[in-house]
Amino acid sequence: MAILFHEAAREFHLYNDNISYIIKILQNGHLGQLYFGARVRDRNDFDHLLESCYRPMTAYQSKSYAFSLEHIKQEYPVYGTSDFKLPAMEVLQPNGSRLTDFTYQHHRIYPGKPALEGLPATYTESDEEADTLEVTLKDQVLGMNLVLIYTIFNGENAIARSARFENGSGQAFDLTRAMSFSIDLPDCDYDWIQFSGAWSRERQVKTRRLEQGIQAVSSARGHSSHNHNPFIVLKRPSADEFQGEAMGFSLIYSGNFLAQAEVDTYNVTRVMLGINPFAFTWHLAPGESFQTPEAVAVYSGEGLNGMSQAFHRLFRTRLARGQWRDRVRPILLNNWEATYFDFNEDKLIEIAKTAKEDGVELFVLDDGWFGARTDDHAGLGDWYANTDRLPGGIKGLSEKIEALGLKFGFWVELEMANMDSGLYRAHPDWLIQAPDRPLSHGRHQYVLDFSRKEVVDYIFGMMDKILSESKVSYIKWDMNRSITECYSLALPPERQGEVFHRYILGLYSLYERLTQKFPHILFESCASGGARFDAGMLYYAPQCWTSDDSDAAERIKIQYGTSFCYPVSSMGAHVSAVPNHQLSRVTPLSTRGNVAFFGAFGYELDLQKLSAKEREMVRGQIRFMKQYRYILQFGTFYRLQSPFENNIAAWMAVSEDKQTAIVGYYKTLNDVNCEYRRLKLKGLEAGTAYQVGQSGKVHYGDELMNLGLITTDPSAGQPTSGQPEEGMEMCTDFWSKIYVLKAAR
Ligand code: DGJ
Repeated sequence: MAILFHEAAREFHLYNDNISYIIKILQNGHLGQLYFGARVRDRNDFDHLLESCYRPMTAYQSKSYAFSLEHIKQEYPVYGTSDFKLPAMEVLQPNGSRLTDFTYQHHRIYPGKPALEGLPATYTESDEEADTLEVTLKDQVLGMNLVLIYTIFNGENAIARSARFENGSGQAFDLTRAMSFSIDLPDCDYDWIQFSGAWSRERQVKTRRLEQGIQAVSSARGHSSHNHNPFIVLKRPSADEFQGEAMGFSLIYSGNFLAQAEVDTYNVTRVMLGINPFAFTWHLAPGESFQTPEAVAVYSGEGLNGMSQAFHRLFRTRLARGQWRDRVRPILLNNWEATYFDFNEDKLIEIAKTAKEDGVELFVLDDGWFGARTDDHAGLGDWYANTDRLPGGIKGLSEKIEALGLKFGFWVELEMANMDSGLYRAHPDWLIQAPDRPLSHGRHQYVLDFSRKEVVDYIFGMMDKILSESKVSYIKWDMNRSITECYSLALPPERQGEVFHRYILGLYSLYERLTQKFPHILFESCASGGARFDAGMLYYAPQCWTSDDSDAAERIKIQYGTSFCYPVSSMGAHVSAVPNHQLSRVTPLSTRGNVAFFGAFGYELDLQKLSAKEREMVRGQIRFMKQYRYILQFGTFYRLQSPFENNIAAWMAVSEDKQTAIVGYYKTLNDVNCEYRRLKLKGLEAGTAYQVGQSGKVHYGDELMNLGLITTDPSAGQPTSGQPEEGMEMCTDFWSKIYVLKAAR
C-alpha cells in the first residue's frame, strides 16, 4: 500500500494490492480524476488518461480548445466556470456570487488516518493499516481553504474521503453544498442499485440501468430513513454476486443525505454522496471550519459479494468500536411484542424467568417503563422509572433480573418528548419548532432540539444517573418520527439552515458521551425498526434493530438487502410470535429461527405462551446459536440466491479457517413434485472434505462449489395423500433448512 506523488506529472497514485485511485492536479489547479478501479502498475505519468477534445457549445478556460471543466473528469467539481453538472460544493458570498476557484496549494501524505471531530468515521489501530493524503486548495478571492482528505486501507478495497472548508478570511460565507465524495467515472455502463422501502419493508433491492440524467436517493427527514439508505451500488450489467465489477458508495452519516449519479450526454458518470444540500446551509464565520461527514467507496472485481465482504470487514472492525465490536452478541428476549405497554414488574419477571430456563442471556425491557408512559401519548423525555409499574425502579428491576442469572437492558428514545411530560412542561422551548407556526406531531411526540448543548446535557444527566445506579448491560436507542418544522429557537436566522446537521452532531455527541462513560454497555440503535440503519450509527452502536417487521419471510428480503453494505453482526433479528403482528402470517418456528440466526439473535415474544414442543425447539435454537454464533455473526457472508428473484433464497457464512460453513436455505411457497435442486456453495476449501449435517455424507469443497449441494425437497414426489411417509420431512410454505458443513477429521 502506498500513496505516491509524481512530481513532474503532478499526479497522486493511491494503491494497495487490489485497487488504484489516481488523481491529477490539473492545469487550472483543480483536482482531476484519472482512475478508480482494479490495481494498475504505477508509472511516472498517467497523463494519457486525461481525455479532452474540442466539443461545440462548450465553454473553455484556456485560449485553445483544450481545457473545459465540462469535459474533464474531476474530484470535487464546481458549477458555473465551464462545467454545468451538479457540483460537489457551492459557497454563497456576501456579493451574491456563488463562483469559486479552489486551486492546489500543497499536500501532505502520512501513515494512518485522522479522526473527524464530532463525526463518526473509519479508523485505524496502527499506522500500517492505512495511508492518508490531504490536499489543500485555496480560493484566492475568498481567502478560503478546502482540504480534501483521502485514506487508502491496507488490504481493503476501500477509499475513505471527506472535505473540510476553512474560512481564513475576514468575512462570512454560506456553504450551500458540501459533499463528502465526488468522482467522475469514464462511462455509464452500469446497473444502479439502491436500497429503498418504507416502515417494515426496509432496504429492498432495486436495480435499474444507469441512464443519462440524474438518478438519486436522498432523505430530507432528519434521519437516514426507511425510505432510502445512504448507500448505493454501481455494477457492470454482466456482473453478478460472484464475478464482475461492482462499486459501492456508503456515507457514514445518519441525517439528511444525497447519493446520486449524474450521467452526462458523453456518458461520463458523476457519483456523489454527502449531506443533502436541500434544506442545508452552513454559515461559515471568519476563522471557522466545516468538516463534511466521511464517505467510503469500495471497488470489487469479484462481484457484489466481494464488494459486500469488503464493507463488512471494514465496518465491523474499523468503524464499529468498543468492547462489543468483536464479541458474539448475547441472545436476548425483548418484551415489546410480548406485552406492548401492558406490563408490570411481576409480569416481566415471569417472562424473564422462562427466558432464562430456555437459555436466553439478556432480558430487554422495551417502551413503557418511564414517566407517565402507559401508552404512546405521554412520558417521553422523563427518563426515570414509573414506580407504579416498577416499584424498585430500573435499579430494582435490573437487580432482580441479574439475580435470575440474566443480563438486563432497556429501551429509550432520548431525542423525543411528549407534551404530556415533565420535560416539556419545564422546557417548552426545547422542541424543534418554528415561531408562529403550528407544530406537527408524529406518534404524539415532538423532537427535542439536539442542536442545543443544554438539551443534550440534560438528557445525558438523566441517563448518567440511571445507568450509574443500575445494573445495565444493553440499551436499545429508538427514534420514532421524522423531523418537521425544522427550526431552532436558539439559533440566529442565518444559521437556521444548520439545524438538521447540528441535530445530528448533538445526537453523535450524546452517543459519544454515553458509550465512553459506559463502555461495557451494548448499544443497539433503532428508528421505528430500520429507519436509521446507516454507517454513522455503527460507529456508536455495533448493532441496529433491522426492521419492525419480524415476519420471517419478509425478514429474508430485509436482511438480504441490508447485507449489501452492513455486516450480519449488526442486524438485530428476533423470533416473534405467530400469527405475525405485522402481517398476520404464520411461518414455522423453525424458519423464524433459521432467518434470525443470521443476525444478532433474540426473541420478541412471551415464551410462556409456547407449547412444550415449541419450547423444546426454542431451546434447540438457542443451543445452536450459542454453538455457531461466532461464525454466523463474524464469518464471511455470501448471498447465494436472492429472495427478490427466486422462490428459494439462500445465503451462507463461512468460518475464517474455512473448516465450518452454515447455509441458510429458505423456500417461500411450497411447490409440488418439483425439480431436482442443487445449490452451488462458496468460500470453501476446494480440497477439504466436508461432512454435511448429521447425514454422514461427505463432499469435497470443489464438488460443493462446482456441482453444488443437493437440496432437492425432502417431500418432492411425495404421494398427495397429505400424510408423509414414515420418516419423511414434509415441506410447507415458508419451509427452510440450515445445513452445517464441517471439515471431516
Ligand atoms: C419502535 C421500535 O422499532 C420497536 O421495536 C419498539 O421499540 C417500539 N418502537 C416501542 O415504542
